Amino acid sequence: MAQEVTIEEHVQHIDDELARLILTVAGMSVDIRNEFPHRLMGIAGTNKYGEVVAELDAWVNDYICKKLAATGLVRKIYSEELVQPMLVKEDAPFVVAMDPLDGSSNIVTNNPFGTIIGIYRKDLPVSGDNLAASLYKLYGPITTLVYDAGKGVHEFVKHRKGHAKYCLLNENMRVPSEGGVFGLGGEPLDWTPEFLGFAKSLVKVHGLKLRYCGAFVGDFSQILHKGGFFAYPSSVKSPKGKLRLFYEAQPMAKIFEDAGGATWSGSESLLQTKCDDVNVRTPLYFGSKELVELLKGVKTVAHKDGE
Ligand code: F6P
Ligand code: MN
Repeated sequence: MAQEVTIEEHVQHIDDELARLILTVAGMSVDIRNEFPHRLMGIAGTNKYGEVVAELDAWVNDYICKKLAATGLVRKIYSEELVQPMLVKEDAPFVVAMDPLDGSSNIVTNNPFGTIIGIYRKDLPVSGDNLAASLYKLYGPITTLVYDAGKGVHEFVKHRKGHAKYCLLNENMRVPSEGGVFGLGGEPLDWTPEFLGFAKSLVKVHGLKLRYCGAFVGDFSQILHKGGFFAYPSSVKSPKGKLRLFYEAQPMAKIFEDAGGATWSGSESLLQTKCDDVNVRTPLYFGSKELVELLKGVKTVAHKDGE
């Protein structure tokens, strides 16, 4: 059987410093996973969005920040769990934006959650076109890592054949252009009637199967592998949706578009979206090119009652 390719070997073809940063993130998985059973129930407080922060969210955020700072490669860290960005080292090459534990409401039910990381050379806010690399980790029954440093989208799996390294699982991933699954977040009765109609057409016209896990990383992984459609749309209560442009949408949009899929914010591709507020939320829509083209003709943006 052919020798397995480790992530250490695979990143050799990318920029040296970027490779080191990606390997640092990969190297945190064992410590992070080992911490899960010890921090399942605790609440640490609320974050800058007023959302509940699980003890695990806070621990993972601190842990990743410390490890990133220790590389000497990171200038600044923006995180969903940091009130202010963390200034690390003025002359370091990279700026990181992250959601340290995406999908943390899945902790208590033992459903998937993960980590999302975007790596920039410029400081934020900039559009996603400026991402030097993106990666996400999915802590499901197995741990996988997908990275994209501008030379394809590659997936690795940890702990294969009894060793702790990440081994190549899928190289140069492509989003299947036909068939697949769909997942939609938020409250259907709060969407625009037009988007609700589009959602129905995913079943009736396009024959997609419903698969929704409630963690963006998990739902994203389903459509990256199987094709189809995922959205956390604009709604009457939350016209800007729930997910964050810089910590979640942009890094994943790079991966998805580089794998041949399409993204949409309600007015443009998520990679082109510009905004001065680094904490901004955005409606998000990920799908095959065909489905996103159809979506562009649909009124997706909802308004608060009375506005
Ligand atoms: O980061 C926000 C998040 O946890 C996503 O992973 C997920 O898509 C979404 O929230 C689910 O939120 P809700 O259960 O409130 O619809
Ligand atoms: Mn999240």
